[in-house]
Amino acid sequence: MESNNNKTPVSKALFGDDFIWGVSTAAVQIEGAHDADGKGDSIWDVFARKKGKIRGNVHHYTACNFYNQYQNDIDLIKQLNIPNFRFSISWSRVMPNGTGAINQAGIDYYNKVIDYCLALGVEPWLTLYHWDLPHTLELKGGWTNREVINWFTDFIGVCARAFGDRVKHWMVMNEPSVFTGAGYFFGIHAPGKTGLSNFLPAVHHVTLSVAAGGKALREILPNAEIGTTFSCSYIEPYSDSPRNIAAAKRVDTLLNRLFIEPVLGLGYPFADLPVLKGIKKYMLPGDENKLAFDFDFIGLQNYTREIVKYSFFTPYIQASLVKAENRNVPVTTMGWEVWPQSIYHLLHKYNQYPQIKKVYLTESGAAFPDNREGDAVDDPMRVTYLQEYLQQVLKAKNEGCKVSGYFIWTLTDNFEWAEGYHPRFGIIYVDFETQQRIVKSSGKWYADFLS
Ligand code: BGC
Repeated sequence: MESNNNKTPVSKALFGDDFIWGVSTAAVQIEGAHDADGKGDSIWDVFARKKGKIRGNVHHYTACNFYNQYQNDIDLIKQLNIPNFRFSISWSRVMPNGTGAINQAGIDYYNKVIDYCLALGVEPWLTLYHWDLPHTLELKGGWTNREVINWFTDFIGVCARAFGDRVKHWMVMNEPSVFTGAGYFFGIHAPGKTGLSNFLPAVHHVTLSVAAGGKALREILPNAEIGTTFSCSYIEPYSDSPRNIAAAKRVDTLLNRLFIEPVLGLGYPFADLPVLKGIKKYMLPGDENKLAFDFDFIGLQNYTREIVKYSFFTPYIQASLVKAENRNVPVTTMGWEVWPQSIYHLLHKYNQYPQIKKVYLTESGAAFPDNREGDAVDDPMRVTYLQEYLQQVLKAKNEGCKVSGYFIWTLTDNFEWAEGYHPRFGIIYVDFETQQRIVKSSGKWYADFLS
């Protein structure tokens, strides 16, 4: 197995002056205040009320209380020398029913966050959809209802008009494959739907919405930098047997190609994963021409690699993932393998698409069992993780791969979806009882790196 033997020390200077450095978050995971000031329910607000859905039966109704403590947390971003802050807009805070009436208090709140960032010299990067569909829209079928494309573009119009005079960098969606897979096929994320009859229409309507959302933003904000983000995992076959190689190709198609290729004008990758042909049932005449949009940038988000084996018993894909815990490799709290080369190989992989103009790594990071001792949290594993992943980013960049920025996931420990508060991803520790923040050694390392 390949080892991580590239030990060139990384420094900010090696990435060049134009390289963008930042930190990423998402509304549900940090804001709390789930019903404050006129906000409507999102699918996560409803999902978290159901027993057994979230580890430890916790919820995100307070989370990091960012809604009330945003100034404190943006002050910390400033103190850590982080120039760019990526956060998402909660659709149901801005439009409580997802469509129709606008909640001015929600708009005012995001205006305050944006203005505070700008006052401190921190550049805001907005994600429009990080998984929190308004519940009222889910009652009408959510992403399985084609109407969602109109609801979504209306919401985008509201945001573009409200914030576009100050926000220059926009991301239409976060990781479609994760929220459609976990939320509409496996049912382990909100809204908890399962099966192909939910997954396939959701895939198609999300894909159409990504393109329609990009177009809507461009019309209103012709000078904005507009992108969208995708999760990706480097995929390797368990062995070089033809069956394992073919299985790995199917998983790669599902995880790394399904959503990005239509956006790039290449259509759905039906040939390499036949079950996807079921999407055709939901396609209307002319849809082929509505899948693509010429994004200014693509956000890639990578945490690990996956090893794939042929599996007769796994429906639709005949492939399964060989868990990292069974492979005797270092893992994070999420059970994900620590394998920095993943990001290097993926930058090369996506570099082969000439349609991609620019790449930012809009999320990269790890959860580890951080130990707090008094008012200090030393997290050497996260520091090493970040340094080693950055070495691999630099290596790919020096070999000519497009990569123009890197955002750490994430600022503060937060609500990790169905995993609750157990995994801690932050470079700042949060005591969820008191809402006290403690900058971890990784946060101090990033501040030094960026100084
Ligand atoms: C998501 C984040 C999530 C992180 C770690 C990404 O898939 O965008 O919301 O917390 O990974 O799981």
